[in-house]
Amino acid sequence: MRIIITGAGGMLGHDLVKTLEVRYDVVAFDHKGLDITDRIRLKDVIISESPDILINCAAYTQVDRAEEDREKAFMVNGLGVQNLALICEQQGVALCHISTDYVFDGNKRTPYTPFDNTSPVNYYGYTKLAGEQYIKWFMKRFYIVRTSWLYGKNGSNFVKTIIRVSQERDQLRVVNDQIGSPTCTVTLARAIEQIILSEVYGVHHVTDRTEGGISWYDFARAILDLTGSKTMLVPITTEEYPTAARRPAYSVLDTSFTEFSTGYNPPDWYDSLKEFIESL
Ligand SMILES: NC(=O)c1ccc[n+]([C@@H]2O[C@H](COP(=O)([O-])OP(=O)(O)OC[C@H]3O[C@@H](n4cnc5c(N)ncnc54)[C@H](OP(=O)(O)O)[C@@H]3O)[C@@H](O)[C@H]2O)c1
Repeated sequence: MRIIITGAGGMLGHDLVKTLEVRYDVVAFDHKGLDITDRIRLKDVIISESPDILINCAAYTQVDRAEEDREKAFMVNGLGVQNLALICEQQGVALCHISTDYVFDGNKRTPYTPFDNTSPVNYYGYTKLAGEQYIKWFMKRFYIVRTSWLYGKNGSNFVKTIIRVSQERDQLRVVNDQIGSPTCTVTLARAIEQIILSEVYGVHHVTDRTEGGISWYDFARAILDLTGSKTMLVPITTEEYPTAARRPAYSVLDTSFTEFSTGYNPPDWYDSLKEFIESL
């Protein structure tokens, strides 16, 4: 199988290339190498490389900044993905695109399935939903893989931030009323491989297993325990930690459709986190 990976220099892209290049013919492009908003070059590359599938890890991912930087966020997450969908469909190339739990509003209290209604509460979520819609409108052979609370070696993320600030401070205040599921980029890369091999097209949900979700506070508690930190952890509410972008209060994704249809078995979130911290 010949695979193009866009956004290969990002946190997920980096681990996805590492996971797939040992078994497949992978052509990886970072942002400089291929900008998904450059429709002409994108088409030239897809035609000349002639892949079986393109996996898009490129995105505008700064959730708070997107509230101000609307044009740029939509350009990448909306129109960039529109380019990918149109060109891939024209050229007979399947598309695997990564999306987010932030397409949901968080008003549910049971895990979101791929069939639940979307209703983003921030602009980043809105742009990611636009990308999903273009794919659904234009394409027959696509995988939209929604994931949440990603962390990995090659990028800034919650785990690395908590480890860093816990070395600088005696006390940390972390939100305890937003519930979700963390996901290691290595887990997600393995799931993506299994999904594209399954040829079960459509919307997939992939996260590490949390049995109903954990809060950012629970996640931070586990990080401090696993690193042996003595820093005191104080639970706070979302109101006490205002951010430019609203976050859904609950965004646990139900992964059972993907487990059933592809055989994927998500690892427990704590085991993934332990393995990640030991590998640092
Ligand atoms: N991080 C999370 O917690 C999270 C949660 C749920 C879903 N997701 C989704 O998971 C996917 C991967 O996220 P990630 O955390 O790996 O993000 P990331 O580390 O920010 O990687 C995204 C990559 O896309 C590149 N990029 C930006 N604009 C581009 C363009 N126009 N053309 C080509 N490349 C471009 C970025 O390059 P520059 O750095 O040079 O701009 C960056 O290398 C994204 O679709 C994201 O929406 C992430």
